[in-house]
Amino acid sequence: MSALPGSPEATAVTGLDSSPVDVEALADVPPLPEQAREEAREIIARYPVPRSALLPMLHLVQSYQGYVTPEGVALCAEELGLTKAEVGAVATFYTMYKRKPTGRHLVSVCTNTLCAVLGGQRIMDALSADLGVHHDETAADGSITLEHAECLAACDYAPVVTVDYEFYDQQDVESARALVAALRRGEKPHPTRGAPLTDFRGVSRQLAGFSQYEDPYDMAAAVDAPGQLEPTLRGLRLAEERGESAPPMPRPSRPAADTGEPRETVRPSGATGETPGKEAADARVAAADTPAEKAGAAGSHPDAPEPAGRRLADGREGTDTPAGTEPGTSGQGPAGAPRTIEGRTTPKRKG
Ligand code: FES
Repeated sequence: MSALPGSPEATAVTGLDSSPVDVEALADVPPLPEQAREEAREIIARYPVPRSALLPMLHLVQSYQGYVTPEGVALCAEELGLTKAEVGAVATFYTMYKRKPTGRHLVSVCTNTLCAVLGGQRIMDALSADLGVHHDETAADGSITLEHAECLAACDYAPVVTVDYEFYDQQDVESARALVAALRRGEKPHPTRGAPLTDFRGVSRQLAGFSQYEDPYDMAAAVDAPGQLEPTLRGLRLAEERGESAPPMPRPSRPAADTGEPRETVRPSGATGETPGKEAADARVAAADTPAEKAGAAGSHPDAPEPAGRRLADGREGTDTPAGTEPGTSGQGPAGAPRTIEGRTTPKRKG
């Protein structure tokens, strides 16, 4: 590639923006090895439609070069039969794809509503002052890229900081400063939950679908590491103590196949003495054509029994995610619960 990342020329070709980049840091970006192209093809083979592979391929590029380089854009375009502008349009849409060289670690501070109220902005300001950078900038020593983030989907652990997308929950200014100082010393403090910390390139490789764990048991042990659960369940516990429960969710019945004829509206007549809602629900059950429609209409009937919640690992009813049964989920199972791989209890490792 002749166009420098961030240059107007590159912007015109790839759609990546033209914000200034550190030319010295660019010198450290190695060209993509042949192995990257082979791995890109491996990713493409996972999907029935090649272009579905674009997102993990962009992570793969970041795992080699630390950001989405024009060379990486060109590789994705060549392998997928897309234009570079099409690849650039995707890469510039998602904030996880970086347009400038990224530091060894990416530190994201949630400054969205709940975290901000509980101190997220103060954390962001303190880290910004310590590192001498603002949002989406990298410290001079290349150790940390700092960004503020929108809701990181962990509001019950606010204020939240992630490092390379691993969670550090319930931070305050001092704990966040200590965390970043440790990262700059080359340490890798263990996240509050989930897998051990790697670095930005390492987690990019994971996001491309390549595990750094050769042994699947190591991977399962890391991803399903015990984590805290109580903040997530606090609302459930309170509701149980108070005897409160949510009403069942009404499930809309499937619309009938379009015959071209105007569909008759089911209206309550008021003749049965039932409430209009129940009368309409009775009519929907009676009008259902197929067993599936009948089941759907019956399930949304006001008289339908409340669906039973799944049983939590501690014996309570609820909606806990069974530990280890959903690849990619991490740390959501209660500490000490049996860990599983593909639904089986993790056996003891040999040796
Ligand atoms: S507001 Fe910060 S995780 Fe949701």
